[in-house]
Amino acid sequence: MSKEAVIVAIAGGGSTFTPGIVNALLSGLDRFPVVEIRLYDIDGSRVELMGGLIKRIIEISKALIKVMVTTDGKEAFTGVDFVFSQIRAGGLKMREVDEKIPLKYGAIGQETCGAGGFSYGFRTMKAFIPLVKMIYSYAPDAWILNYTNPESIVAEIIRRTFPKAKIINACDMTISLEETMAENLGYNRDDFVPEYYGLNHFGWYRKIYDKSLQRDILPEILEKISGKGLELHEFQADDESWQATYKMLGRMIADFPGYFPNSYFEYYLYSDQVLAKSDKNYTRANEVMDSRERDVYSLAREIQENPMTPIPKAEKSKHGQYIVDMAVSILNDSHDRFLLIVPNEGSIENVRSDAVVEVPAYVGATGVESITMGKIPDFHKGLIEAQCAAEKLLVDAFVEQDYYKALQAFTLNQAVPSATVAKKCLDEFIIANGDYWPELHK
Ligand code: G6P
Ligand code: MN
Repeated sequence: MSKEAVIVAIAGGGSTFTPGIVNALLSGLDRFPVVEIRLYDIDGSRVELMGGLIKRIIEISKALIKVMVTTDGKEAFTGVDFVFSQIRAGGLKMREVDEKIPLKYGAIGQETCGAGGFSYGFRTMKAFIPLVKMIYSYAPDAWILNYTNPESIVAEIIRRTFPKAKIINACDMTISLEETMAENLGYNRDDFVPEYYGLNHFGWYRKIYDKSLQRDILPEILEKISGKGLELHEFQADDESWQATYKMLGRMIADFPGYFPNSYFEYYLYSDQVLAKSDKNYTRANEVMDSRERDVYSLAREIQENPMTPIPKAEKSKHGQYIVDMAVSILNDSHDRFLLIVPNEGSIENVRSDAVVEVPAYVGATGVESITMGKIPDFHKGLIEAQCAAEKLLVDAFVEQDYYKALQAFTLNQAVPSATVAKKCLDEFIIANGDYWPELHK
């Protein structure tokens, strides 16, 4: 891999997150010299439109970066150094289906949690494995930095299918949590050394050492936000759903003191409350389609009609920044610390070693080195082990095409209230997903 001229491909290039990633790449060119960005997507018209927007962003920045837009895997991945993957199998239309079917039966309707997350899990596994095989057939030495949801399930199938592959699984939720803590309470996130453990979207902070204050600041953070929660002031500030989620943290911390939970626990621990305020006919997918998706694509269409269209202030997303920071750490072998989704292998001592956990890890030219977290409390261990078993059963069901394992997985999921509901969701998802899912045999 050349350190002077890096080629990056974005799989799922048509995603509305692509501009944020490109802006993060543009702001980090001194550390990460990208000469070519390839946008790969199976949806040709979408990625074409996105390509126009990305070319305009790069033109305005005056950076000398070539942009390729393609639906052809050979073209996209041949000779590439890094692949950033953020595919969404079935698009937002299927996210809507994932969210709405469980709601019909009184269960949480959510992108990565509960029955909907498992529906998405099957779809993603079916799309992601051939994608990885294709990437390595054209670029055997490439690094894949993976953000593809639902990440716990994706990371588990990767652990089984490509145990030696150069794939790093990461999620931006913890960055958003940390940045919001820092912004609300007057800390600097760059000074944070967090201790966090769990599964993806399913973990807790037990310590946040602040390098400049030279102490663990988690106790004071918990005290300040217990019962109150956090507020988003910049990124997503006008998004009521995310505001409600950040507020809910206050309730969770008041009820279960001593640790800072991932916000996604609202769907598992307070599903009754989330359900009470859910609209069966208008879910998060509809909100996203009517906001981010609409805004980004209307701008892309304007640019297609008038290439000189001005672009609002370039935002680099947290998601984009994190992915670029990881790539920099690999390229420069700098061993920076991240929270990553890795095979447990003893990191959390009292959780099964073949779990895929989210823990602190250092990233360098040879990959990821996670740290040892020791033992965790029973409340966390119990939740983790049940969720992990449910996810493993889902992956077994996928590999073995076994309906009954799928039903076990759905039933064990802690956001699914009963086997009755699990079966209703599973049976309806089989029909709704059609060829997006593997065939399941009884
Ligand atoms: C966070 C999570 C992602 C998830 C996203 C959903 O960033 O880490 O895994 O996909 O939230 O956000 P949205 O605005 O699409 O509901
Ligand atoms: Mn995530």
